[in-house]
Amino acid sequence: MASQGHTALVTGASAGIGRELAKLAAQDRRDLVLVARRRDRLEALAAELRAAHGVAVTVIAADLGQARAAQEICAQVEAAGIEVECLMNNAGFGSFGPFVRMERTRQLEMIDVNIRALVELCHLFLPGMLRRKHGHILNVASVAGFVPGPNMATYYASKAFVVSFTEGLATELRGSGVSATASCPGPTATEFGDIAGNKRSELFRRGVAEAAPVARHAYRAMLAGRVVAIPGLMNKVLALSSRFVPRALLRSGVARLNRPRQP
Ligand SMILES: NC(=O)c1ccc[n+]([C@@H]2O[C@H](COP(=O)([O-])OP(=O)(O)OC[C@H]3O[C@@H](n4cnc5c(N)ncnc54)[C@H](OP(=O)(O)O)[C@@H]3O)[C@@H](O)[C@H]2O)c1
Repeated sequence: MASQGHTALVTGASAGIGRELAKLAAQDRRDLVLVARRRDRLEALAAELRAAHGVAVTVIAADLGQARAAQEICAQVEAAGIEVECLMNNAGFGSFGPFVRMERTRQLEMIDVNIRALVELCHLFLPGMLRRKHGHILNVASVAGFVPGPNMATYYASKAFVVSFTEGLATELRGSGVSATASCPGPTATEFGDIAGNKRSELFRRGVAEAAPVARHAYRAMLAGRVVAIPGLMNKVLALSSRFVPRALLRSGVARLNRPRQP
């Protein structure tokens, strides 16, 4: 079946939730722009999606930790005459451990990928969406965005930024035909835990979701124009508790979850 000509750009499409988001968009016959560092993985996914769904797929290998990455992605997309209807800012990573012991460059890279690139891509692609009076932005945050995160302090704070930024943006965009959605998953079985180093924490022992349903929840919320979308009952409870539970209790509760698992 031929594609509909609507294009979704997915960052972090080489693995985990992003890979599943790309599959969902292709199933809906959206053309795709796939972004991540690992070109081989993106090319393999592109070939799979072209064959299965007849969509056009453009691969852009880029490191979103680099200052000019977002502008270069936008320039490549425009040069190819592609109009992005759905921008899915999903790329991100965390790192686990006491802040002072972690590499400074890694903390700053996290801010660049999780925050800077996300904001810049929104700013680059929004004008086109507003001109066409149609579009969707999905920013993948985390339930971590609702609470302080001892032992992952920079990561939790980066996701708090994404939730707040997306809520502000969504409100500005009301009535424009363009929506902004923050998806806030909890622990999910992807490469995230290995990269962050928190796979063996208490948090990951308490019910880990699969990437496919998490992506489906986020994708549907984006198309429905929901502002904040939290998959799973426990994650909803955690997010809600941040409104009622005293901050000191929240801090010590999350510190207990974010500690190496007891044997
Ligand atoms: N898994 C969880 O427990 C969980 C929970 C809540 C929220 N999240 C959020 O969900 C999003 C997706 O994570 P995931 O769980 O699917 O993890 P994942 O399997 O590790 O995938 C992360 C993706 O981000 C890309 N990425 C990382 N650094 C990048 C960089 N510098 N430049 C370009 N792309 C980069 C990776 O691609 P390359 O390595 O090929 O560049 C990969 O495609 C993240 O924003 C994460 O914070 C995850």
